[in-house]
Parts: sequence; structure tokens; C-alpha cells
Amino acid sequence: MAESFEKSNHLCISIFYYSLLNKAKKKGKEYMEILRVENLNKIYGKGENEVKAVDNVSFSVEKGEFVAIVGASGSGKSTLLHLLGGVDRPTSGKVYIDGQDIYSLDDDNLAIFRRRQVGLIYQFYNLIPILNVEENITLPCNLDGKEVDKNKLDELLKTLKLENRRKHLPNELSGGQQQRVSIGRAIINSPAIMLADEPTGNLDSKASEEIISLLRLSNKKYNQTVIIITHDEKIALEADRIITIDDGRIVKDEKQD
Ligand SMILES: Nc1ncnc2c1ncn2[C@@H]1O[C@H](COP(=O)(O)OP(=O)(O)OP(=O)(O)O)[C@@H](O)[C@H]1O
Ligand SMILES: [Mg+2]
Repeated sequence: MAESFEKSNHLCISIFYYSLLNKAKKKGKEYMEILRVENLNKIYGKGENEVKAVDNVSFSVEKGEFVAIVGASGSGKSTLLHLLGGVDRPTSGKVYIDGQDIYSLDDDNLAIFRRRQVGLIYQFYNLIPILNVEENITLPCNLDGKEVDKNKLDELLKTLKLENRRKHLPNELSGGQQQRVSIGRAIINSPAIMLADEPTGNLDSKASEEIISLLRLSNKKYNQTVIIITHDEKIALEADRIITIDDGRIVKDEKQD
């Protein structure tokens, strides 16, 4: 009797630990997969004007990956990036960011989620012209009614080499400086993913190297996931992985050493 009790007790303990282990494994996996895209489609227009800008795209990205998206003009890169960031809604398909099915959210909650979990960097910076450098960078915090972490802001301004430009307005900055402000704005909330649409498309090679090394720095230092669209082969070759898009589809997906 005592022996069978001990056996069943032992079995219970084993099952308990096994389930704990499985949970930890599962949690670890969920933690690692920061983005999952399932059968994503975006169709513009109707009838003979119909354009399948994103055509049944599925892939996933691990936390801390630095991914380059490349492809010809008009192949659907920006459309895809906007869908990944919750800027636009897909015709069909799903996008999960850190486990959240983002298109199950209504517009208000999607906007809040985007502000907290997605850092977007545009080719043309998209800064608010009447706000100075500090105000542009801290805009996502202010919109959230969150207090700005002064130390974090100081560290960020230093990293971005903008300490001496705090009170400047965007039109008083060079292109590279404006892009650095937009990186600051994207990173201030430590988003789950950073999405950049040709962030160096408008810059000379020196400024563009600085921007890429900044993105690399936040990728390495904070294990920040970065997805970047680029036409620049040199930049793409620095990524951990290159996804090639053609006619709205993924035609190549290669990891690099
Ligand atoms: N709002 C829209 N309405 C209709 N068609 C659109 C719209 N936005 C994009 N498209 C079409 O979708 C396709 C993909 O456009 P997208 O901007 O994603 O391309 P891209 O790969 O980013 O190009 P580029 O390298 O030139 O920026 C193009 O054929 C484009 O004409
Ligand atoms: Mg584009």
C-alpha cells in the first residue's frame, strides 16, 4: 500500500516537473519568436485595377534578429512593412507581434499597441516640424501620458550624437541628424520590433553608415529586433538574414553568417 502510494506520488512529481519543463520550453520559444506572419495578403483596387501588393506571405522573426528586406521597386516591400507595423490593415492573413494578433485589435487599441511595441523609421523622417529634437523623440511617451525617463533620454541623445541639438527644430538639422531623431523616437519606448523603410535612402554614404551602425548598436546592445528595407547591397550584407520580395511574394529567405 505504502509502496504504491510512493510510486503514484513519484509519478505525480514526475508529471509535475515534466509539465513545468514543457511550459518553460514553450515560454522560451514564444519569447524567442517576436513576429509571426501568416498568409498575409494586401490587394489594392478592384477589377482590372487590382494589384496584389502582398501575396500570401508567411514567415517569422526571432527576437534580436537583424533582417533586411530587398526587392525591386514596386515589389511590395513598403506595403509589407506597413502591415507588419499595424499601420495598414491586410486584406486577409494575420500578424502576431510578441504573441499578440494585432489585427484582432480595434483601431484605437491598435494605435496604442503600435505606439508601444513598434518603432517605425521612414525614409523621409516624418518628424513634427514644430517640435524640437527632444520633443520629437519623446512624442510617443507624451502621447501615452507617460513620464519621460530623463536618464534614458540623455543616454539616447548622447548615442545619437544630438546632445548639442536638443532644442533645434527639424528644419535646423541636417538629413542625417533628422534621421537620428527619428531613430530616437522609434527606440525611446523599447519597442518589440523596429521597422525601417529605406532609412538611408536620402543620405550620403557617411551619414548612411552612421545610421546603420546605430541600428546595429541597438540591435546588439538591447537585443532589439530590426527589420530594414534597403536597396543598398552593402547594408543588406550586414544583416543576419535577407528576405527577397518579388511581385508581393517571398522568393528568397537566406540567413547569413
Ligand atoms: N495606396 C495604393 N493604392 C493602390 N496601389 C498601391 C497603393 N500603394 C501601393 N500600391 C501598389 O502596390 C505595389 C507595391 O507598392 P510598394 O510601395 O509596397 O512597393 P515597394 O517595393 O516599397 O517599392 P519602392 O522600392 O519603389 O518603394 C505597387 O505596384 C504599387 O503601385
Ligand atoms: Mg517602398
